[in-house]
Amino acid sequence: GEISATATLRADQSGPAISRYIYGQFSEHLGAGVYDGIWVGPDSKIPNVRGVRSDVVGALKAIKTPVIRWPGGCFADEYHWRDGIGPRDKRPSRKNNWWGGSPETNAFGTHEFMDFAEQVGADPYVAVNVGSSNPTVMREWIEYMTSPGEDTLAQERRANGRDKPWKVPFIGIGNESWGCGGEMTPEYYANEYRRFSSFFHKNSDNPAVRVASGANSFDVNWTDVVTKAAAKRMDAISLHYYTIQTGDWNKKGAATGFDKAAWGKSFAQTLRMDDLLRQHIAVLDRNDPQKRIGLYVDEWGTWYDTEPGTNPGHLYQLNTLRDGVLAAVNFNIFHKHAERVRMANIAQTINVLQAVILTKGDQMVLTPTYYAHQMYMPFQDSTAIPLEITAPEIDVAGSKIPAFNASAAKGKDGKIYVAVANMALDDSVKLNVSLAGLKAKMVSGQVLTADKMDAMNDFGAKPAVVPVPFKGGKLSGDRLTLDIPSKSVVVVRLD
Ligand code: AHR
Repeated sequence: GEISATATLRADQSGPAISRYIYGQFSEHLGAGVYDGIWVGPDSKIPNVRGVRSDVVGALKAIKTPVIRWPGGCFADEYHWRDGIGPRDKRPSRKNNWWGGSPETNAFGTHEFMDFAEQVGADPYVAVNVGSSNPTVMREWIEYMTSPGEDTLAQERRANGRDKPWKVPFIGIGNESWGCGGEMTPEYYANEYRRFSSFFHKNSDNPAVRVASGANSFDVNWTDVVTKAAAKRMDAISLHYYTIQTGDWNKKGAATGFDKAAWGKSFAQTLRMDDLLRQHIAVLDRNDPQKRIGLYVDEWGTWYDTEPGTNPGHLYQLNTLRDGVLAAVNFNIFHKHAERVRMANIAQTINVLQAVILTKGDQMVLTPTYYAHQMYMPFQDSTAIPLEITAPEIDVAGSKIPAFNASAAKGKDGKIYVAVANMALDDSVKLNVSLAGLKAKMVSGQVLTADKMDAMNDFGAKPAVVPVPFKGGKLSGDRLTLDIPSKSVVVVRLD
């Protein structure tokens, strides 16, 4: 069928800036995320620059990846940065206790990560160990990375091949400190945060945004306690929310071969992001009325049962059209809350959870989630424009969800962009948009869809889910109509 809806685009008004960092990545030492996914080593037959895969760098550059968070995740609170510097053949081998007990060779350490980020053109976001370390270790790592001076740590960095200090614009103080990062209460973490941040020395060498370890989904008390106790000492606080279609961590459901009910549940779960952000922002508005502190959704995405036959500790899952549409739904939500939500990092870049890239040997696949990022590139550093819209509610095999969500912005190029994610499986959406006086001559754009709801891009096959030119846009006077196919993402530009 067809669903009709009307909307008004207030192009004469402007909303908050939409930070490019909303399109950030998270890359943990987990499964094949770093080893194989990023790092193949300089002697590999797979084309690489200083050990970093060139195909992956090219793909991340092509979507203008603005920031990469590293080294974890849970891994961060067990990581010792000294394990990962100096000659690679002398580095210790450790056990990755969080993720399958797999060997951690430390071949990919600070220098390799920074090189990777520089090759991609992304800003580094480093998470330091709070849970099983101390402020001295944190301070020394920061000095090693950022000191321009003659001090011994800076000289050690030089001896290891890097003369100039790196720019590290974002540093996270702990990760999931309520869970794998030390099982702390919010009161305990708030004190730890104050202690660690005392030795952080924010200054011209180290101007990094200090990111406090934030809440697990709806735990607004965490945000409240931590910001009440330490707002002055932080510049951002994180928030983690994973989309578990079943809502049950013990039985998360499959990434492929799912039914309509699973599609509906996935979107019902992911749409909770809107209310989640609203609740945490309400707390921040009370404890930080000047709106200085950013809310960083530095882990988000779908989490399914791991792919049968793979190491369950490696969190390898496939990625279908559902994930692509779901990414777009989240982008539209982030845009709405962009005044506070100044960064988001999808979990995780390569071969882990809702990956944008999958690799197998020398092959690489760009997932539907990758293409959602690509289509939304014009929203990086844009300015939101109010889009007044009410989407009719639909019932997807038992889940009541809005048929679609949408957002609009004025891009850095001065053009107006409108994005729509249609969650309806069987219905197209005819959207009538009043442009409220805006004069546009042309509408063009792209659409991401496929015949099957679990269509995916597979190794060695022609990709089944890629953006193609969108032909469903029409302009007449100050009316725009968009004919949006079922289960799709559409991004259009008005000229
Ligand atoms: O992304 C996988 C894991 O999820 C991260 O290591 C942790 O922070 C979260 O629980």
